[in-house]
Amino acid sequence: MSDGNPHGTGLTRRQLLHEMGLSSQWRLREQALAGRAGKAALAPPPTAILAVAGDATAAVEVFEVVEAVEAVEVLAPAPVASSAALPAVDREQQIARLDWDGLRHSVAECRACGLCEERRQAVLGVGDRRAEWLFIGEGPGVEEDARGEPFVGPAGQLLDAMLAAIDLQRGENVYIANAVKCRPPGNRTPESAEIATCAPYLRRQIALIQPRLIVLLGRAAANAVLGDSGSLASMRGKTFEYRDADNAETAIPVLVSYHPAYLLRTLQDKAKAWEDLCRARMLMRAATTPASLPA
Ligand code: URA
Repeated sequence: MSDGNPHGTGLTRRQLLHEMGLSSQWRLREQALAGRAGKAALAPPPTAILAVAGDATAAVEVFEVVEAVEAVEVLAPAPVASSAALPAVDREQQIARLDWDGLRHSVAECRACGLCEERRQAVLGVGDRRAEWLFIGEGPGVEEDARGEPFVGPAGQLLDAMLAAIDLQRGENVYIANAVKCRPPGNRTPESAEIATCAPYLRRQIALIQPRLIVLLGRAAANAVLGDSGSLASMRGKTFEYRDADNAETAIPVLVSYHPAYLLRTLQDKAKAWEDLCRARMLMRAATTPASLPA
């Protein structure tokens, strides 16, 4: 990626990293090596490796952030809570048969939990329905509730900058969804029961999209996809697997990172989020590179 590439955001890479709270000294190792040794040194890196380059006079230090994909944890999908209208099993089965139009309609009309009472509109998701990348957040905030699109407020601007930093753009090979489709009043964290009630919609979105990688932004998203599986700190750096009930032979790698709204409040963790993004890119490369045949 060149420094002058606008990424559809109107910002250069340097500005994007600045938006993420990362100075331009954070570079992928391949770029650091290219800078020092020319293009001939560039082979696709087998792992996500970050380089921290100092100023022009300082030596370049290279840190390996991730050696390899770590232990894969397989978790059952989160349990489904009962809905107001249908027994949970019937409702789950009904949702599992919906196409995109049916899903949008069902979500818009949903009254299965109390979040419907104060929403302006339900927010299904946005992006490429055949995307390889699926990012999942918590739930709509006030701006998303008004506009009907996820991540359009300040956290969304940071998410767009994070996407651009790994050469992604909202809507292009990326789909963005939330754990719950209706705004929790006062932007509170959705409750576990609300997340569970909304989970069949998220599962249907995953089944329709069939992404190659799922990135869970924050605890609510992790709860929705992986169940209640510990603190965010304990989940970061691990690779989980998601298996759709109807397509159980296909495991989709899942990783957990910080929610952009948290990062806006906790600047010191932005560097860790950058590590997670680099690892996500490594996992995507692994998921989309055909395994080499034995000689
Ligand atoms: N935070 C989220 O988790 N999702 C949104 O859509 C907006 C803010």
